[in-house]
Amino acid sequence: MASIPSANTTAANTHPVNSAPAAEQKTAVVTGASRGIGLAIARMLAAEGFQVYGLARHRADESGISFIPCDVTEISSVQAAFDTILGRSGAIDLLVVNAGMGVSGAAEFTEEEAIDRQLAVNLTGAIRCARQVIPSMREKGRGRIVFISSLGAIFPLPFQSFYSVSKAGVNAFCDALGLELRPFGIETCALLLNDVKTDFTASRAKNIQGDSLYGGRISASVTKMEISEQHGMEPGQVAASLKRLLGRRRLPPHYIVGFSNQVLGLLYRLLPTSWMLKILGRIYG
Ligand SMILES: NC(=O)c1ccc[n+]([C@@H]2O[C@H](COP(=O)([O-])OP(=O)(O)OC[C@H]3O[C@@H](n4cnc5c(N)ncnc54)[C@H](OP(=O)(O)O)[C@@H]3O)[C@@H](O)[C@H]2O)c1
Repeated sequence: MASIPSANTTAANTHPVNSAPAAEQKTAVVTGASRGIGLAIARMLAAEGFQVYGLARHRADESGISFIPCDVTEISSVQAAFDTILGRSGAIDLLVVNAGMGVSGAAEFTEEEAIDRQLAVNLTGAIRCARQVIPSMREKGRGRIVFISSLGAIFPLPFQSFYSVSKAGVNAFCDALGLELRPFGIETCALLLNDVKTDFTASRAKNIQGDSLYGGRISASVTKMEISEQHGMEPGQVAASLKRLLGRRRLPPHYIVGFSNQVLGLLYRLLPTSWMLKILGRIYG
């Protein structure tokens, strides 16, 4: 498997997207880098020689990662963070759009505020951060934007419908943006993850209102999801997959992490929607 071209290698041994002059250290930004998948990715990129900026509301004490406070739900906070990075580094070569959270509950009983928050963090926040890096990448004629998405984008999860909506939106934005930016040498990629063992589970904003009306299906479904998340892969495995992808000459538009999850992705393409929904309903409905 190809290893990721070092962020400070010479132009001669790197592919066009990574063809930086010898002395130029490449810059990567990871949103949601204070813990979990984002922190694992930021560590991996720092180890690969990138100058890494981590954005989050809290900071992790990590040598090799420059933390900049940022709440992706606030445009002024996002703008200030990217202005700081661009002021220091001049350009951003790689953006990993990872910040996210989950809301669960029946669609019928989910508070308006929770719906807004879900979309503000996972979808609008992702769009906002991606838009910040486009001008400098376009001027440079190269760049990569990787969105951390979910299998929940293609498998609509009952009782996590707004999470699925947010990630389906991320996939659609990633694809459309990739088409717009292709002539400028900018690639986009959505990394679709299944269960990963992180604080995501404990941080989920859960609402079991209506559980008895729904025959206990809300709590049963979310509990099942929590158990599989806590038996899921380690964040380091996601970072290792991304490292391999970044070593490719071209990024795929979508990539599902993990072989068994790739099989699920294949089933999604092969099965009629009614079958897919029936199976999904048996598991999480
Ligand atoms: N874990 C899974 O099973 C799984 C599966 C599929 C996809 N994913 C996706 O992977 C991504 C990372 O999740 P994770 O599992 O690593 O969860 P996590 O451990 O809870 O980490 C979430 C990260 O997002 C940041 N974040 C949350 N709200 C933010 C905001 N308003 N502004 C800026 N940063 C914010 C958090 O930092 P602060 O709290 O410090 O702001 C934290 O660094 C998410 O997009 C998630 O949807 C996770």
